Amino acid sequence: MDLSKDPREPDPRAALADLLAFYAEAGVDAALGDAPVDRFAESAAERSAPRAAPRPDAAAPGAALPVAASPGTAAARREIARAPAPSPGAPSPGAPPPPDRAAADAREAAASAPDLDALRALMEGFDGCALKLTASRLVFGDGNPRARLMLVGEAPGRDEDIEGKPFVGRSGKLLDRMLAAIGIDRTSAYIANVIPWHPPGNRTPTPQETAICLPFIRRQIELVNPDVLVCLGNPSTQTLLGSKDGITKARGRWMEYDTGTRRIAALATFHPAYLLRTPLGKRMVWRDLLAIERKLAETKPEAG
Ligand code: URA
Repeated sequence: MDLSKDPREPDPRAALADLLAFYAEAGVDAALGDAPVDRFAESAAERSAPRAAPRPDAAAPGAALPVAASPGTAAARREIARAPAPSPGAPSPGAPPPPDRAAADAREAAASAPDLDALRALMEGFDGCALKLTASRLVFGDGNPRARLMLVGEAPGRDEDIEGKPFVGRSGKLLDRMLAAIGIDRTSAYIANVIPWHPPGNRTPTPQETAICLPFIRRQIELVNPDVLVCLGNPSTQTLLGSKDGITKARGRWMEYDTGTRRIAALATFHPAYLLRTPLGKRMVWRDLLAIERKLAETKPEAG
């Protein structure tokens, strides 16, 4: 027993563990910086910082008063009060554009990408999806871009957000084992997600976020141009294959996906994250894997 401690004092480790558990439940699951930043203090300091003397012709009606306001003075407070208020509904600076506009921008950007490197660069520079603000990085794709098999999941998880590659966490490890069962690894498959940014707290992406990201994954599929497309889980199946059925009904049935330049065989199967929770589903996925293996053999281009 540690006699130097007052038993009536709360244990700081327990309090910290409670706080961390609270953060995790609230969806705060990634550290974006090493030290906390007090944004309130930052903006208060900005407001009270002395301004540079304005040009004599700079004052417009309703503009801030051209006074050298020292921090905290009545003049400074009046100056702040006179600054034009943002009009209601006006986007705040740095905020992504409205979803329709963002989806149109994404369509235009995606269509202009001649290859995967250009597409990745365009997506890195795209600011239309708010998920980018909370994600650490873009999770573009992994594997062989010339593979005949492409698999598409829903959205990166926390591990993928850290590594910048799709399916590297627990469900990714299971996916690798599933593929290995039919002799496939990441040198013979290409893997991506419908949404390329990790949603905070692993929440489900909103329909708007999905609509904004859709042109990017569609272009990515078109550029990889696989012979077989596999949708992992319900969101990917419904988004890419337009299926209205739940995954239990949709899985295991061959469908077609139109890349924009050709129609390719597409199959839905259970998401590996579901299989981690429901191991019985592996029996059905085994059948799907065998069907994928057969389809790849059937569609193999003649050598020579
Ligand atoms: N789940 C997904 O849908 N995609 C990933 O990359 C990881 C987990």
